[in-house]
Amino acid sequence: MAETHRYTLGGKSFTAVAVNTAAKAGEWVHSKLGNYSNLSTKYSSSDLVTEVDKGSETLIRNLIHTHFPDHAFLGEEGVGAGPAASSQALRKAADSEYLWVVDPIDGTTNFVHGFPFFSVSIALAYRGEVIVGVVYDPSRDELFVAEKGKGAYVRGKRLQVAPQRALSDSLLGSGFPADRDYALPCNLRGINALTPKVRNIRSAGSAALHLAYVAAGRLTGFWEIGLNSWDIAAGALLVQEAGGTVSDTLGNPYSLEVRNVVASNGLIHQEFLDELAAAGATK
Ligand code: IPD
Ligand code: CA
Ligand code: CA
Repeated sequence: MAETHRYTLGGKSFTAVAVNTAAKAGEWVHSKLGNYSNLSTKYSSSDLVTEVDKGSETLIRNLIHTHFPDHAFLGEEGVGAGPAASSQALRKAADSEYLWVVDPIDGTTNFVHGFPFFSVSIALAYRGEVIVGVVYDPSRDELFVAEKGKGAYVRGKRLQVAPQRALSDSLLGSGFPADRDYALPCNLRGINALTPKVRNIRSAGSAALHLAYVAAGRLTGFWEIGLNSWDIAAGALLVQEAGGTVSDTLGNPYSLEVRNVVASNGLIHQEFLDELAAAGATK
């Protein structure tokens, strides 16, 4: 544990609260699979939200504030749609000593279609640095958890990133962003350039869970343009604590402001960045 971080308050462990909260929210979301009643769109026609997203966020916020009433909270459903609103909300919250960064369902499109690949993502930042990250997949009952300086785990097993040394041996993950004007075309340039150069690319619809899979060595790397802090924060710590590297597409180190994210086992990172740059797929 990095000595500058405090992981408890009044005897309560931040990580225990994050784990219990993600598990409760994930179980509830899973119980609602195929059983939502209110579907609407946000930033674009493919940016979906249901009452289950909102209910999950309320449950998470209430549980966290029951334990830590003074902590700040940034959740996707509490913020207006689109990148400008989310950047502004993050800037407003940036000064908080403790900030919880939450995606109540990462993979809403999958949830809506009954495709069992979605997650609850909960991170805690201390003075802007992520110190706890939890990503819970209720469909497989896999809870990925990391604490800064203490490693990343799933089901008690320590996570380790994948061993591949070259892009040509890699299995990558990516996404098809909901923002079709700017993020999707850029990401498609990357997919177009990288697909012939890697073993294959998977896009299963939850950025947080893809990052957990990079931490678990199931994917060699992951990238996506135009994500938000709540998609990345918990998964980025998982990858770092499993021995991997997280940066933006220009190679700057990960911070909460990063939207264009590249995560990998570290060994392929520079080659990965170079290919995205050559394809004009960095921003
Ligand atoms: C989305 C998922 C998806 C990614 C999108 C995200 P949401 O989050 O992470 O995999 O491609 O860019 O917006 O809307 O389901 O929370
Ligand atoms: Ca998300
Ligand atoms: Ca979401």
